[in-house]
Amino acid sequence: MRIDIITIFPKMFEPVLNESIIKRAQVKGKVKIFIHDLRDYTLDKHKKVDDRPFGGGSGMVLCSEPIFRAVDKIRAKNQESRVKSKVVLLCPQGRKLDQKIAKKLAKQKNLVLICGHYEGIDERVREVLVDEEVSIGDYVLTGGELPAMVLVDCLVRLIPGVLGDKNSLNFESFEGNLLEYPQYTRPAIYRGQRVPDILLSGNHQKIEEWRKIEAIKRTRLKRPDLLKKRKGN
Ligand SMILES: C[S@@+](CC[C@H](N)C(=O)[O-])C[C@H]1O[C@@H](n2cnc3c(N)ncnc32)[C@H](O)[C@@H]1O
Repeated sequence: MRIDIITIFPKMFEPVLNESIIKRAQVKGKVKIFIHDLRDYTLDKHKKVDDRPFGGGSGMVLCSEPIFRAVDKIRAKNQESRVKSKVVLLCPQGRKLDQKIAKKLAKQKNLVLICGHYEGIDERVREVLVDEEVSIGDYVLTGGELPAMVLVDCLVRLIPGVLGDKNSLNFESFEGNLLEYPQYTRPAIYRGQRVPDILLSGNHQKIEEWRKIEAIKRTRLKRPDLLKKRKGN
């Protein structure tokens, strides 16, 4: 998978992309991530990326031109390798990110992520370039950089071979519309709190049954809306 990110704050990405699983995924060649500084696609000597909104109002709006030029260049590059790019705008008005959307996007060979800033972007970018708008929740952040990082993290771990143990994806929260069961590790007793005996029993069938029941109980308590989406309910 290849991910191109268009931003006016490229340095924000360095610490996140160069740590942990996202870094390892790049080293293993599972994902290639390219950060594009929007200012590099401006045509004026001041590298101006924003302007006042037509019709008045507060704040600034990111201009169409550098965004169109950036996407054109990325698309041209990807067409050389015959890969179609899907352009995603990070935006509070978009579809709210969930595991289902993430799984769909993780199948793409190439994603272009556009990070807005200030009051947002010129509407023509949305109309002409954007294939999908993604929000990370019903709140407003100052820019699309953190949402883009959330999306990248969420997608990269879904790429086959990125997580060491393939089971670690199967039993996670939101799989089958359940939250994950409680997890414990050593020691078996800590400050007087014991790990449930069943987990120390070595009986794998019973452990599976216990985990399923606990996952359902926990989902009913914390996210009853998910249970309604389960098949057969
Ligand atoms: C201050 S916001 C603009 C909000 C816009 N004026 C509105 O009311 O819809 C600036 C940028 O941050 C990003 N952003 C803010 N909140 C977001 C969210 N919940 N999900 C995804 N992106 C978000 C978007 O890229 C947006 O263009």
